[in-house]
Amino acid sequence: MSANNEVVINPNSRECVRVIQLTDTHIFAENAGKLLGLNTRQSFEAVLERMLKEEIAPDFVLATGDLSQDASVESYQYLVEKLQAFNVPCFWIPGNHDHPDTMAQVLNYGVVSPERIIIADHWQVVLLDSSVPGKVYGHISTPQLQQLQQRVEQNQQRHSLVVMHHQPVNVGSDWLDNLGIKNAEELFAAVKNNDRETCFLWGHVHQDFVGKQAGVQLISTPSTCVQFKPSSNEFSAGDEAPGYRYLSLYPDGHVESVLHRVKDIPFTVDYSIKGY
Ligand SMILES: [Fe+2]
Repeated sequence: MSANNEVVINPNSRECVRVIQLTDTHIFAENAGKLLGLNTRQSFEAVLERMLKEEIAPDFVLATGDLSQDASVESYQYLVEKLQAFNVPCFWIPGNHDHPDTMAQVLNYGVVSPERIIIADHWQVVLLDSSVPGKVYGHISTPQLQQLQQRVEQNQQRHSLVVMHHQPVNVGSDWLDNLGIKNAEELFAAVKNNDRETCFLWGHVHQDFVGKQAGVQLISTPSTCVQFKPSSNEFSAGDEAPGYRYLSLYPDGHVESVLHRVKDIPFTVDYSIKGY
């Protein structure tokens, strides 16, 4: 299957579509790989264990970039094996630390696949690649913006969940706000003729953020490993626990989202490091 194919999901319940978002796993080739002093495989496995215990399993999973720290084949092989535990489709997009071509080769097995359009009852989910080779900031290409606009305008019977790695709005940290989507105004313009609800969902900022701008619901999700300190003007690790988000997409366009953090596992983060 190519990334342009649509995937139709039949939700388990007529009540809503259920989605798990995990993001910024930053897995290394080596088992012992640490980001800011934290072993990213260990924290991912603790979060995965918690996700698999959800009372109601999701209809599908979204892995929203920076899945690897070193873009190694081994890191993606590790992830593709671990994600099989879900037993539901898992879709992914690259982040600034990833290598999209390597991902496309490895993250395409079993429940994990590279499709970017998911159709689910009253919702369409559009996954965008906001990564720019060699850069930490994000940008959405013109073809992707055109496709998004077309989908929104031609599918007025469905609400839209638009998923990306980088943030399309400022989150209140100078250093991070310089590393968001550079053409975010074009992204907002692409969805402005939507009679239904639109929600933007992303990772990258390693922190919880919810808001609304120009009628669009805005949600970011913490990393499964180390967090960034909210409202900090310079790079700084946060002390919040690793986490993930569980979203329920209702037929009326309402999005219910619950942030879960794994607090009962001891983590050691090196707060003295000033960069990542
Ligand atoms: Fe990240």
